[in-house]
Amino acid sequence: MRKPVDATQTPAWGKLEQLHKELAPNLREWFAQDPARAERYTYQLADLHVDLSKNLINDDVLAALLELAEQVDVAERREAMFNGEHINITEDRAVLHTALRRAEGDTLEVDGQNVVADVHATLAKVYAFAEEVRSGVWRGVTGKPISTVVNIGIGGSDLGPVMVYEALAPYRQPGLECRFISNIDPTDCAETVADLDPETTLFIIASKTFTTLETLTNARMARDWFLSSLEAKGISTEGAIAKHFVAVSTALDKVAEFGIDPKNAFGFWNWVGGRYSVDSAVGTVLAVAVGPDNFNHFLAGFRAVDEHFRNTEPAKNVPLLMGLLNIWYVNFFGAASHAVLPYDQHLHRFAAYLQQLTMESNGKRVRWDGTPVTSATGEIFWGEPGTNGQHAFYQLIHQGTQLIPADFIAMANPAHPVRDGEQDVHELFLSNFLAQTAALAFGKTEAEVRAEGTPEEIVPARIFPGNRPTTSILGPELSPAVVGQLIALYEHITFVQGIVWGIDSFDQWGVELGKKLALQIAPAVSGDAEALAAQDASTQALIKAYRELRH
Ligand code: F6P
Repeated sequence: MRKPVDATQTPAWGKLEQLHKELAPNLREWFAQDPARAERYTYQLADLHVDLSKNLINDDVLAALLELAEQVDVAERREAMFNGEHINITEDRAVLHTALRRAEGDTLEVDGQNVVADVHATLAKVYAFAEEVRSGVWRGVTGKPISTVVNIGIGGSDLGPVMVYEALAPYRQPGLECRFISNIDPTDCAETVADLDPETTLFIIASKTFTTLETLTNARMARDWFLSSLEAKGISTEGAIAKHFVAVSTALDKVAEFGIDPKNAFGFWNWVGGRYSVDSAVGTVLAVAVGPDNFNHFLAGFRAVDEHFRNTEPAKNVPLLMGLLNIWYVNFFGAASHAVLPYDQHLHRFAAYLQQLTMESNGKRVRWDGTPVTSATGEIFWGEPGTNGQHAFYQLIHQGTQLIPADFIAMANPAHPVRDGEQDVHELFLSNFLAQTAALAFGKTEAEVRAEGTPEEIVPARIFPGNRPTTSILGPELSPAVVGQLIALYEHITFVQGIVWGIDSFDQWGVELGKKLALQIAPAVSGDAEALAAQDASTQALIKAYRELRH
């Protein structure tokens, strides 16, 4: 195993510490003194215009960050990932989500197998299924076409599909609705299926492992609802499961055990992490919703960013620069969180999606060789679409005591070009995007507040310190390609941070303990005295309180 480089022991780290000490951020002055700053720190990433100029950087900082990337071997690790080396050390697996979007005809041999050919064979199967459902060729048990597809999955088998389904709302086929069940809270399943017609509903059970408690419980509940709803209508259930249940998984044997015909199962591979899987067969629900052509554009968006990340020189490599900026803020400014603020209603689940991608990947305390990390890792990602966030938590970003770097994302063209009288409403919306990043960067000085004639005692409350770093990302419109580009951008940012920290960004042992304990605690909750006695005092008291309260 190749040892991680300890970033904190590199010359670049020392240089960055020194630069941080000397920096005295002053974006007002920096922009005033350097008219080329905006242009110099603006980059093109496929269709995305990315402006880093409102970050707390200068040429020396950027150069030192790039030196750090070199000294921890980001480029060499990147090649290892693209080439299918087992860089997921703790699970001894390749990390090949980038193979999911390689062009047809490409070759990538992993363990003697051309994985790109496998990817395209699966895509062809997914697309054929999607076309059948979309065109009405796929019929339910009573011969009716499908009008609702319900995806049952959790984590990576849910968050990506939900986020992209919302993002691509204008591209959905009218008359074909998709719904999502993820939570094991029985409310989720019960309320999602309550008004559905079993004759026209198709379920996709999406689970990489096909062992996940939530997904299998929900799948069984959905199957019970489906069969009993058919019976209630006096319809024979014979052969019905095959026409209304399909699966997405790497464990096709377990799919068969559940009772789903393996010919209705879409496979993927253990070299695709759950949170990196939306562009695998996990996106089957999306291929149904937006169609194979749009799904192909979506994949092409990922591919364009992969190629940029792999081939663009470091100084212009956007995922590399953005990953390094995150290191700059987490490790040198002590930032504990990072806001992602999309000024696009259709991206309203983007932050939730990114939370799994970034935090399940980089929330680690040991490095890939088992030794403790040597610096802070894994900031908290969060956000809400603008302008809703402005009226909720922006106060803290503007005037709170913590530094919160923020990515602002907007599209030039709206899904709905609407006017309010003379005013183009999208332009009003984008003015907010621009105003916020300017206010965060440049603030409002005491002199400016006083010049407004503000009473002495409230002057301090009205001062904005500024120098709150933001990145602005502007795309042409929220097309399938652009959504693919945004996802791939954050995948690679996450990768860069993981390499600098020396961690395995592709395992997720931290979610296992709670899963195991839930299974041990379940009998106690249901009244088993022996299991109850085995719990700690707090858990016992909570279970007793629950049992008293439960009707
Ligand atoms: O939360 C842990 C996790 O393993 C995620 O990494 C994964 O996306 C999710 O559970 C769902 O797993 P599966 O697709 O195997 O059901």
